[in-house]
Amino acid sequence: MDPVRIDVTTPSRAYAVTLGDGAIDRLARVLDALRLPEQRFIVSSPLVWRLHGQRLARLTGGTEPILVPDGERFKNLQTVSRVYEALIRANADRASTLVTFGGGVVGDMAGFAAATYLRGIALVHVPTTLLAQVDSAIGGKVGVNHALGKNLIGAFYQPHAVIVDPSVLATLPRREFRAGLYEVIKYGMTSSPSLFDRIARESTAIFGKDPRALTEVIAESCRIKAGVVSADEQEAGPRRILNFGHTAGHALEAVTKYRRYRHGEAVAYGMLVAAELASGRGALADLDRKALADLIASLGPLPPVADLAKADILDAMKHDKKMIAGRLHFVLPTAIGATAIVDDVTEKEMKEALIRVGFKK
Ligand SMILES: NC(=O)c1ccc[n+]([C@@H]2O[C@H](COP(=O)([O-])OP(=O)(O)OC[C@H]3O[C@@H](n4cnc5c(N)ncnc54)[C@H](O)[C@@H]3O)[C@@H](O)[C@H]2O)c1
Ligand SMILES: [Zn+2]
Repeated sequence: MDPVRIDVTTPSRAYAVTLGDGAIDRLARVLDALRLPEQRFIVSSPLVWRLHGQRLARLTGGTEPILVPDGERFKNLQTVSRVYEALIRANADRASTLVTFGGGVVGDMAGFAAATYLRGIALVHVPTTLLAQVDSAIGGKVGVNHALGKNLIGAFYQPHAVIVDPSVLATLPRREFRAGLYEVIKYGMTSSPSLFDRIARESTAIFGKDPRALTEVIAESCRIKAGVVSADEQEAGPRRILNFGHTAGHALEAVTKYRRYRHGEAVAYGMLVAAELASGRGALADLDRKALADLIASLGPLPPVADLAKADILDAMKHDKKMIAGRLHFVLPTAIGATAIVDDVTEKEMKEALIRVGFKK
């Protein structure tokens, strides 16, 4: 299979996503062709490096990778500081390239280090989770958490290249894989009925990590993300549709202190809440709401929500970054592949939707 190339064109940088089985084995050639600085550093996690590091080892001419822990609780400025320290000790100058090799946590954190070290060095993302391949590696959002909230510190810093190799997903735990698939469903539901249908139709091949089926859904997801980011780099307008499922989703993550759900799982619930809301006000046909609920259910069970009080979820939503001038901007599905952004969702509607999804009264 020839690699697929997807272009991202933003005001701050134009770059390509190169996607295909074996793409990481050609990484050195891609970086050379882009004339990226030859002093190269890889930031990865011990686990990802142990599983797949040998495929990248040639890239740096023997320089040791910078290994950092990649749990959500390590996504903070202390870990970024360890990356800075390693770069300084290795005399990394402006003419350096930082390659991130890991999931969304490593990409966001090391991307932030690249954005800020010497006011910015070349950055290449090589994402190794499904979520990072279809979502976080594209679009330039980098950053870390603060003790008082998630992703509160960050920047927009587009990479110079993104290399997506589905073959690394062979080692990804099933739960992580499913968590990424919910974001793929998000793309289908907001932007592409054909992607939505494909996930349902080919779920066996996708879960079996069949290279063709997997490459197709990743490519379509990357195309959607690339298109949205190219139209709206800093999320002033169209990019906001990708927040579908994320308002209630983020609240769910915050209320459970980021421990119970994988991000994608919380987004799955968030999409269900948004769909209940939309069908409750007649904006979404019940058939479409049910198709979404069925597709989510078909991937397997989600961790429970029945013990979580809806009042706590509502409270957490009020602290959301999507509040603009005191009003919550909410992405509602209006059909499979279409959305509307509204700012008039009432507490009563939200409570009813949460109850219908199964939260505690
Ligand atoms: N920048 C953005 O636009 C954006 C978008 C969505 C999410 N995010 C961020 O992404 C993060 C979540 O990313 P994630 O879901 O990739 O989680 P993650 O980075 O924590 O990775 C999940 C787990 O998978 C392991 N792993 C990674 N690759 C593997 C592989 N190939 N085989 C086996 N194990 C592997 C990791 O070690 C980790 O334990 C969150 O911090 C979220 O805020 C950012
Ligand atoms: Zn997300």
